Amino acid sequence: MRRLLIAGNWKMHKTVPEAVELVRELKELVKDVTDRDILVCPPFTALYPVSQELKGSNIYLGGQNMFYEEEGAFTGEISPLMLKDVGCRFVILGHSERRHIFKEDDRLINKKVLSAVEHGLTPILCVGETLQERESGRTKEVVKKQVVEGLKGLTPESEFVIAYEPVWAIGTGRTATPELAQEVHEFIRNTLKELFGSEKAETVRILYGGSVKPNNAAGLLKMPDIDGALVGGASLKAESFSQIVKAL
Ligand code: PGA
Repeated sequence: MRRLLIAGNWKMHKTVPEAVELVRELKELVKDVTDRDILVCPPFTALYPVSQELKGSNIYLGGQNMFYEEEGAFTGEISPLMLKDVGCRFVILGHSERRHIFKEDDRLINKKVLSAVEHGLTPILCVGETLQERESGRTKEVVKKQVVEGLKGLTPESEFVIAYEPVWAIGTGRTATPELAQEVHEFIRNTLKELFGSEKAETVRILYGGSVKPNNAAGLLKMPDIDGALVGGASLKAESFSQIVKAL
């Protein structure tokens, strides 16, 4: 009942010609896929040219971050209106690199989530524990706080996606096992039940992220509470990303 969502997070990769070339290849490789959603999130500079290339295709476009205001004196920031203007339907918020390198906290991330929803963008709220937090047995506590704080103010009518990305699995080649990921996904869904009721919780897509590759994607995607993937490194090549898109 939940449609899979396979999302590519390109991070700080690809010039405009490289980005256009990648989606040109990808479009062709996934053109027959109709039973799941496909999303690419290029860097800001490539959003417009990529959106032109994606016209009429089955691939959605998303931003990797945004600020919560519509416009103003916020040097270096991008607004929800700007993302919508270039054809974005989704926006990744609270990615662990934003949290850890750029010191974004739950309060700021929550403002962004609310602003995205208000402007008709679907936020993909990223949550996940560090290695130290996992080893000290705090995974559920940490993830619950990020979910509860991040979604504050939303209602059962709000459209959003969660991505569970254990920090120790991002870019390390060290994927969570399907069982370990499923345990946290189920816990997140139970948290969503407490916040928004069972009916809503059953419709929310919870993606897994952290070293998803063509050879481990199917095992993850077949778990009952894993509704898709947020893919970094393996989304930078059309061939490997398309294999993940079609993994299950
Ligand atoms: P990775 O990145 O697939 O390269 O581990 C995932 C992410 O950070 O979204």
